[in-house]
Amino acid sequence: MESGQEVKILAIESSCDETAAAVVVNGRDVRSNMISSQIDIHTLYGGVVPEIASRKHIERINQVIEQALYTAGMSLDDMDAIAVTYGPGLVGALLVGVAQAKAIAYAKQLPLIGVHHIEGHICANYIENKDLEPPFFCLVVSGGHTHLVKVLDYGVYEVMGRTRDDAAGEAFDKAARAIGLGYPGGPKIEKASHAGNADAIPFPRAKVSGSAYDFSFSGLKSAVLNYLNGCRMKNIPIVQEDVAASFQKAVIDVLVDNAMRAAQEYQAEKFAIAGGVASNAVLRQRMETACKERGIRFYYPSPVLCTDNAAMIGTAAYYEYQAGRRDDWSLNAVPNLKLGSR
Ligand code: KG4
Ligand code: ZN
Repeated sequence: MESGQEVKILAIESSCDETAAAVVVNGRDVRSNMISSQIDIHTLYGGVVPEIASRKHIERINQVIEQALYTAGMSLDDMDAIAVTYGPGLVGALLVGVAQAKAIAYAKQLPLIGVHHIEGHICANYIENKDLEPPFFCLVVSGGHTHLVKVLDYGVYEVMGRTRDDAAGEAFDKAARAIGLGYPGGPKIEKASHAGNADAIPFPRAKVSGSAYDFSFSGLKSAVLNYLNGCRMKNIPIVQEDVAASFQKAVIDVLVDNAMRAAQEYQAEKFAIAGGVASNAVLRQRMETACKERGIRFYYPSPVLCTDNAAMIGTAAYYEYQAGRRDDWSLNAVPNLKLGSR
């Protein structure tokens, strides 16, 4: 480390449809957090088109990195390490970030640190909550993942529960498409639900047999489709807002219920949420109330740090760096990387 006490990390994230770069100092001091979203393009197709995502990452990544360094008032020569998401995610999208990070690290002879995307989402909680330290529980709810995780220490995770089928965000996206609200589903459903009755339609709350903390959302998705088809066949008008609000409540009931059962059984003192769905105001409110009732301290990142970003990757990388973990030039994209598989 050439710069005294400070560890400056340039972090790159390209696992899905955001091209992102950030400069993070000592893990929790975010000096820049640039995000170039591809949502406009993918909206035309009703969801993320992997081939288009990879191409857009290639077009944008250099500029996003330059902006991150410029905003931080630094250059590559100031960096102590280069971090990059290497999985899970879309393989072509991940490869763009991994290749870029390897090229920079090689050219500047800097340490390279591959970061697990879900670890990044969890670490987003450290950025604004300077007092948060492990151990704590975290509910990770994103477009690709629904994990109930025990954070035992920095970089040490135990997955208590996971989805058996669709992820929570995926369920939001699929339900929104079925209701006719478009992409991305989460924000569209949240907005529509403000004007809806969350108790209008009794959608199912799935219990998964064999594991106390696993989730399942595919039955709920089918229930939404069946409800909509039933209305169309019987010529009953569909109130989009009611369907959205009732669906959202069904997802959130299951998430909060599982989270609080784990919290109670393991006597959690701290509980955090992370991932794109964690930016949902109703989920945040429900989790906050449930934690308060049980005397548990509740943590959550700002919405911009819930959805994909590179600052969270820089934070996760700092703790990997401090633990002495480094990658070599064989680092590759791993689309189905498991949490804690280092
Ligand atoms: O973490 P993220 O940006 O990307 C992944 O790692 O998957 O999460 C994106 C997901 C999408 O499925 C999106 O619909 C969902 O997060 N999402 C939301 C909200 N904002 C984004 N879901 C519910 N309510 C929201 N406000
Ligand atoms: Zn994500």
